[in-house]
Amino acid sequence: MCGIVGYIGYREAVPILLKGLHRLEYRGYDSAGLALINPEGTLNVYKTKGKVADLEEVLKGKDVRGTVGIAHTRWATHGEPNTENAHPHTSESGRLAMIHNGIIENYAVLKESLLKNGVTFKSETDTEVLVQMIDYVQATSGCDLTRAVQLVLNQVVGAYAIAVVDKQNPGEIVAARKGSPLVVGVGENELFLASDASPIVEYTKQVVYLNDEEIATIVPGKELDIRTISNVQKTPEIKQLELSISQLEKGGYPHFMLKEIFEQPITLATSMKGRVNVDLNNISLAGFIDNRDTFLNAKHITITACGTSWHAGLIGMYAFEEFARIPVSVEYSSEFRYRNPIIGENEVVIAISQSGETADTLAAVELAKSQGAFIFGVCNVVGASIPRAAHSGCYTHVGPEIGVASTKAFTAQVTVLLMLALALGKERGTVTQEKYLRLLNELNRIPSKIDQIIKQNNESISQLAKIFTYCQNFIYLGRGYNYPVALEGALKLKEISYIHAEGYPAAEMKHGPIALISQEMPVVFIAPKCSTYEKIVSNIQEVKARKGKVISVVTEGDEQVKALSDVVIEIPDTEEALMPLLTVIPLQLLAYHIAVVKGCDVDQPRNLAKSVTVE
Ligand code: G6P
Repeated sequence: MCGIVGYIGYREAVPILLKGLHRLEYRGYDSAGLALINPEGTLNVYKTKGKVADLEEVLKGKDVRGTVGIAHTRWATHGEPNTENAHPHTSESGRLAMIHNGIIENYAVLKESLLKNGVTFKSETDTEVLVQMIDYVQATSGCDLTRAVQLVLNQVVGAYAIAVVDKQNPGEIVAARKGSPLVVGVGENELFLASDASPIVEYTKQVVYLNDEEIATIVPGKELDIRTISNVQKTPEIKQLELSISQLEKGGYPHFMLKEIFEQPITLATSMKGRVNVDLNNISLAGFIDNRDTFLNAKHITITACGTSWHAGLIGMYAFEEFARIPVSVEYSSEFRYRNPIIGENEVVIAISQSGETADTLAAVELAKSQGAFIFGVCNVVGASIPRAAHSGCYTHVGPEIGVASTKAFTAQVTVLLMLALALGKERGTVTQEKYLRLLNELNRIPSKIDQIIKQNNESISQLAKIFTYCQNFIYLGRGYNYPVALEGALKLKEISYIHAEGYPAAEMKHGPIALISQEMPVVFIAPKCSTYEKIVSNIQEVKARKGKVISVVTEGDEQVKALSDVVIEIPDTEEALMPLLTVIPLQLLAYHIAVVKGCDVDQPRNLAKSVTVE
C-alpha cells in the first residue's frame, strides 16, 4: 500500500527519492509524486497517475534541484487514482507539502471547520484536509511546524504515516505515525524516511522505527527529536538493519516471485536453523521456551490473520489439534476485531503476518491484548508493528518478500506453526516421542525435497501453463492438511493471472461446485498418499465422470491417480502434517507460469497491495 520516502541532507534528493519509490513499488500503488524545495526556496510538486516510470517522464526538463524532498506512491482509497488525488498535497498558501499513508476518519468534520474559516480545497482527499489544517494552525498561532503537526494530530481520528515539508523552513522534515509504518534512517549529516527499510539500506544501516503517536523532527547534523503527540520527549532507539541490497534485487530471475519460489529450500532451512536440532533430537523456539507455562496452561488457541497468512493459520489449526490436542479457531482478523469475540481465560492468540503491518491483524492483536489474551506473533519483517505489539513470537526469517503474491513467507509460516505445535505437544505429552522424532527428522529433509520438486517440475509446469491459459475458471480440491493448500493454490492463481479460481475441501464439491464441472473446467486435486487418499480418489472419479480436466499433485510413483488424471505432478513422499510444504510448491509454479504466459504483471498485480495498512 502507499509508500513514503523522504530525504534531507547534502545530496540531490531526486535520485534517492525515485530509487526509494522503485524499492517500494512492491507494496502496490496507482499514482506517484514528489515535492522538493529548491535552493531558491521554491516548493516544486510533481505528480501523476500511473507508475514511478511515468513520474520519471513527468520530471524530464523540470526543476528537480533540491536536497530536501518527500515522495509517495498512492494506493487509492478515497477518490480515484488520478493526478489530482496523487500525493504530495499542498496547503492553500503553497507553503507546506505533505504525503500521507492511512485514512483520516473524521476528515469531513475537520474540513467543515476549515471551510467556515475561508480555506478552499483542490481535491476530495482526507490528506489535503490535514495539510491545510496544519498550515492554518501554524499561520494563526505562530507556532513551529512540529507543534502545529502535534496540535492537529490531537484532533485526528484514524491512521496515518505522514511527512511534511515547509518551504519557509527548508532545513527540516516533520514526520509522524499512528497505525501505518514509518522508519527514519540516520546517516552522517543526512536523514532518510521511508515506509520500510528498503529505500534506506543502501545509505545507512542505522534506523529508528517510530511508534504510534510519535512525531519526529528530522534535521541533518542534529540528534533526532522524537516526541509524542502529547509532547512527551522520547529517546530515539537506534536499531541496526540486517537487510542487504542483494535481497532486494531479482538476482537474475525474471520476476521476484520466481526468485522467491526458488529460494524456498534456503529460506526454510534458515527458518529452522538453530530451532530444529537433529543432533539433540529437539525443537527449540525461544518464544515458546520463554512462555512455556502460558502455552501449557492454554485452554484455547485463536489464530488470526489475513490472506495467505490465514491459510497458513488453517494448517496450524490441524497441527495444534493433532499434536498438542488444544482446541483452535482460525479467524479472519477483519471479522474477529468487529465481532465482540469471546476471549476466555488462558487464551493464546497467534497473529500471523508476513509484513507485520496488516491493519486488521494489528487491530485484532490490540483487541485480544486488551481483553487479557497472550499474543504470540509469527511475522517476517523484523521490528514491524505486530511483533512489537505482541508479548512474544517467532520470526520466520525468510528475508524480504517482494512479489505481492506470498510464497516463501507462507511455507515459513507453516514451518514455524508446525515447530510450535510439535514443541507444545512434546511438553504436554500429547505427541509420542517416536512421532516427534520422525517429524523432526522429516522437517529437516523438507528443504531438499522442495529443491527436488522445483528442479523436476518447473520446466514441465511452464509447458503445462500454455495449455491452461485459455481457461476462465479453476477449482482446487484437497482434504485434511491439503484443504488449506487448495485455498492457497486458488488464491495464487487468481491474484496474479486474474483467472477465477476457488478452493474447496474435496468432499464439499458435491454440495455445489460439481455443477460447474465440464470439459472446460480444470480441477486441481492435491492428492498425495495420506490418510484420506482413497476418499480423494473417489472425488477424482466423480470429476472424471463429468469430463472435467484433472490436474493432480501426487506422491511419486502413484499409478492409481495417474491413470485417472489428464496431468500429474509428482512430489516426494513425506509425513502427512508436512505435506503442505511440498504440495503448495507446484501450485505456486502453476500460477506463476500461467500469469507469465498471459502477460500479466506478476510481481505487481493490478489492484493488489503487499502490505495492507488500511482496514
Ligand atoms: C495482502 C497480500 C497477501 C497477504 C495478505 C496478508 O493481501 O497481498 O499476500 O497474504 O495481505 O498480509 P500479511 O503481511 O499480514 O501476511
